[in-house]
Amino acid sequence: MKKLLLSVTAMLAISASAKAGVWETTCANCHGRVAPSKTQILEKFATPEDLVKRARELVNAGVMPKGLQFGLAAKELYGRMPKMKGVHMPPKTDKYTRFFEVLPSTPPIPADNPMTVAKVKLGKMLYFDPRLSRSNLISCNTCHNLSIGGDDNQKTSIGDKWQKGPRNAPTVFNAAFLKVQFWDGRAATLEEQAKGPLTAHVEMNATPEMVVKKLKAIPEYREMFKKAFPGEVDPITFDNVAKAIAAYERTLITPNSPFDRYLSGDKKALSRVQIEGMKLFVDKGCVSCHRGPVLSDGLFHKFKINDDKGRYKVTKKKEDMYKFRTPQLRMVSQTAPYFHDGSAKTLEEAIDVMAKKMLNVKLTRSEIYRIRKFLDSLTGQVPMEAVVLPVLDDSSR
Ligand code: HEC
Ligand code: HEC
Ligand code: HEC
Repeated sequence: MKKLLLSVTAMLAISASAKAGVWETTCANCHGRVAPSKTQILEKFATPEDLVKRARELVNAGVMPKGLQFGLAAKELYGRMPKMKGVHMPPKTDKYTRFFEVLPSTPPIPADNPMTVAKVKLGKMLYFDPRLSRSNLISCNTCHNLSIGGDDNQKTSIGDKWQKGPRNAPTVFNAAFLKVQFWDGRAATLEEQAKGPLTAHVEMNATPEMVVKKLKAIPEYREMFKKAFPGEVDPITFDNVAKAIAAYERTLITPNSPFDRYLSGDKKALSRVQIEGMKLFVDKGCVSCHRGPVLSDGLFHKFKINDDKGRYKVTKKKEDMYKFRTPQLRMVSQTAPYFHDGSAKTLEEAIDVMAKKMLNVKLTRSEIYRIRKFLDSLTGQVPMEAVVLPVLDDSSR
């Protein structure tokens, strides 16, 4: 019965999300914000062919990102597919693939924090800068190390004065696609999220005033903040620190995983075992919570494995007792150990526990193996730009 209910809610959510087209989910992240709106585009281009032609020129000129589905967007805007070479319909989804989505090339970008080159560059510096912590030792990258999957591979994180925090660090890669941040969803946005670790005692243990004072003393940062927040009289603020870090985090996307290639029509991108694993993942019911582009429904589910009360701590509502937000599974094979307390040492163990506790199902070893192989196929490419460390001016250490 429990399983049936879950799959009904899954269906509802899926039919709702299927309605949002390419324009809404991808193009509108920039268009209507930093680029011409839908109305302006329709006024300027008479046919879908005109639109795609111009769009391709802009991709070649580096103005728009590669890999966008212009043909489909044009179809949504003009009611027909453009008649030209290289514009193809997306591969048809089947019984299994309809639960998933290719990772979009850009995450949603909030209207009040547009991405600019200057802001992303500043955000990257801040992300790697240990001076933002009280001890001058800990940066975001300490616990979300971009070379090892965007986390720290510790059971629970170690922060200021070598204190052990209560929870496991999730990856920052693709976090920009999550509907809420943290295991208990206590931050709605990346902007809000970034302020947490900077001031948490067991993490970086700074104060907003301390961060601002340190940054103001560094000439290079004074220049960078001016460029990133043009027109602001006093651009070095705690809010702007969070905004710049969030803008940088929105570039930490890992496209082109074998699974994305498979979803885009390359049927050879997954091995036979991985395809079997995908089918098990759907048939056993994992997709009722792990679905969509990052394999998270963004909702809270009961998972009691210790006395961490999870979502309850945020809402104080009885029904939220021991509930945690479904984590994303992109990059999951690189982020052991698992669960909010890091109690599952291996991915196999995590899959086994999930089946038992969430679905009341006992998987065989071979089923676990297949699902694991499927989860491996979710690992995409880390953007090279992300893992090259910036050089920090050390005059104020
Ligand atoms: C990451 C941001 C971004 C995304 C996503 C994006 N665009 Fe753009 N687009 C731009 C920018 C920036 C311009 C150039 C605006 C300018 O010239 O002022 C542009 C320009 C265009 C133009 C030419 C507009 C003109 O007035 O000449 C077309 C057509 C267009 N985009 C179509 C699309 C479609 C269709 C999609 C979705 C499949 C899309 N874009 C997704 C950023 C984006
Ligand atoms: C001391 C280790 C540590 C440091 C330093 C740290 N984090 Fe975290 N981060 C964590 C832990 C642990 C969690 C999970 C906490 C929770 O959910 O209660 C987390 C959660 C997150 C999340 C939410 C991801 C998700 O799946 O919900 C993001 C995004 C994030 N951190 C980004 C950052 C940024 C940006 C910085 C630097 C300003 C930073 N972190 C500094 C340990 C750390
Ligand atoms: C009822 C919703 C639900 C179902 C069904 C479900 N999960 Fe989960 N999954 C969650 C939640 C919530 C968590 C976070 C648990 C925690 O608090 O540590 C999670 C965590 C995980 C993790 C650990 C991720 C990490 O980064 O620590 C893996 C792996 C995972 N699930 C795989 C699966 C697999 C495989 C199945 C099917 C056998 C499945 N899940 C079924 C909701 C679900």
